[in-house]
Amino acid sequence: MAANNFIVTPWEVEGKVDYNKLIEKFGTHKITQEIKDKIKKLTGELHVMLRRDIFFSHRDLDLVLSDYENGKGFFTYTGRGPSGPMHIGHILPFYFTKWIQEKFDVNVYIEITDDEKFWVKKKLSYKDAQKWSYENILDIIAVGFNPDKTFIFQDTEYISNIYPMAVKVARKINFSLAKAVFGFTDQSNIGIIFFPALQIIPTFFERKRCLIPSAIDQDPYWRIQRDIAESFGYYKTAAIHSKFLPALTGPTQKMSASKPETAIYLNDDEKIVRKKIFRYAFSGGQPTIEMHRKLGGNPDIDVSFIWLKYFFEPDDKKLKEIEEKYRAGELLTGELKQILIEKINNFLKEHKRRRKKAIDLIDKFKYDGSLASEMWSKKIS
Ligand code: TYM
Repeated sequence: MAANNFIVTPWEVEGKVDYNKLIEKFGTHKITQEIKDKIKKLTGELHVMLRRDIFFSHRDLDLVLSDYENGKGFFTYTGRGPSGPMHIGHILPFYFTKWIQEKFDVNVYIEITDDEKFWVKKKLSYKDAQKWSYENILDIIAVGFNPDKTFIFQDTEYISNIYPMAVKVARKINFSLAKAVFGFTDQSNIGIIFFPALQIIPTFFERKRCLIPSAIDQDPYWRIQRDIAESFGYYKTAAIHSKFLPALTGPTQKMSASKPETAIYLNDDEKIVRKKIFRYAFSGGQPTIEMHRKLGGNPDIDVSFIWLKYFFEPDDKKLKEIEEKYRAGELLTGELKQILIEKINNFLKEHKRRRKKAIDLIDKFKYDGSLASEMWSKKIS
């Protein structure tokens, strides 16, 4: 959907995103202090991405919390399109979802849309979509989901269980609506035109309200789901939306698989992380040390600082100290970058350690775990 000079769709994010305008355009709601207070009351703490308004918008999150409070409960659903290695932006919603699972003790369903990416990415072979599904699933398992309450499924494998419902959903979405919501054209292949039905189905996996954590680019699907869910006797889905972790090369740029300097991938090694950040991380510092000491840096546009704020420095006091020292010119760009490099490398070291163990867990999440077995034995209709 185009709004002024930026575009946000599930396949395209361009320009400087104005998140307040997006809330208006998409018809979502800001996460208010009242909602945050309620989450804190129920969970005992607020996730760093909620505290700092990185998750900033929602649909029906208040109703989800009420359902939880009055014992009805809810479930959670998110996903990944396996077009290549995952970057740090892709994994953030999963860390957040894991926090929700831990705090509310809920089931999590994770859709791997190998079909979608094969239809959308002209250069991606079918074989590679399968390969990246496997690789990405290992990264997702490494996040630490509870295997008894998490089901990871890949569309091309699980399709027979969801197809009966997809047939019904597809009949309710006409091409004119799909064009308006997703920007399809006469050149779009017919696979991707049908695909939105498949991303909607997991919201019907349980007869409870579904909460979907993701960046706001995925919201167009939920808008359609909310138009049709009640006609099938299901709830309108709820959603909680995050902002986009900016590309290393600048807050208005997007991370791109074809431009490795724009992102840190989960499989980057320590040396590459160091090199990318020193060389490419967009700086809010001054051109010379003398000027920096005199005038100070601008953390608001400094990607290293923004990455610390999004996720990598969860301690509010430490973040504030970094911010103040940077503004005052006490902390140099190189020193700020060094802080981020250490944080990322520690994070990746731990992530990679858990990823190795994930190889033995994959069957549990996909086929043999209690939730997985239950899902394979039921058709969604
Ligand atoms: P995909 O693979 O494009 O993205 C995976 C998840 O990462 C989020 N995301 C980001 N979050 C923060 N900063 C960024 N820079 C950034 N870039 C991407 C996305 O919003 C998403 O949550 N079609 C989907 C797969 C899918 C899905 C879902 C996603 C299927 N069902 C339900 C979310 C919820 C896709 O290709 O995501």
